[in-house]
Amino acid sequence: MAVLDIVLYPEAVLKAVAKPVKKVSAEIQRLVDNMLETMYAAPGIGLAAPQVGVSKRLCVVDVSNPQEGEPLNPYVLINPEIIDRAGKILWEEGCLSLPGLYREVQRSSRITVRALDRQGVERVFEAEDLLAVCIQHEMDHLDGIVFPDRLSLLKKKLALKEWKRLREKKLEDDDEGDEAQPAE
Ligand code: NI
Repeated sequence: MAVLDIVLYPEAVLKAVAKPVKKVSAEIQRLVDNMLETMYAAPGIGLAAPQVGVSKRLCVVDVSNPQEGEPLNPYVLINPEIIDRAGKILWEEGCLSLPGLYREVQRSSRITVRALDRQGVERVFEAEDLLAVCIQHEMDHLDGIVFPDRLSLLKKKLALKEWKRLREKKLEDDDEGDEAQPAE
């Protein structure tokens, strides 16, 4: 397994609508494994294929809290669809492609998801609260949407302005050879 490079907004791949996965091949499984390793290394609670430069409809999510002694609980979602949704929830979100930027976003609080798993088997399951928020955030990436796109026009403008500053700072710091930075 390998830790992959995470692309930063506004890279074009983050704005593209990703293509469905035709077959859960060994190559796709390798990508899934590398994405899980990349997500845990970041550390983050979700990662979508476009964030590692691959415009395919798959993402990984794990909202468990291993620091609190909880076992890992990875979800692998290939060609995911939300087939039902209910309720509303406001959650402060961040993104590995816009590290350091956080904003409250409104999402559905309960969703029913249909997706293929790592073995290519179709699964239907319900998710709520943080898991539901995270899956909706990652699935947005598959449609070329990042969380600031979910804000009002004015809030989005301010958020992207802040991100521009954070990005410049980050690129400067990376140039100085310090590649370690925490992000969600
Ligand atoms: Ni994200």
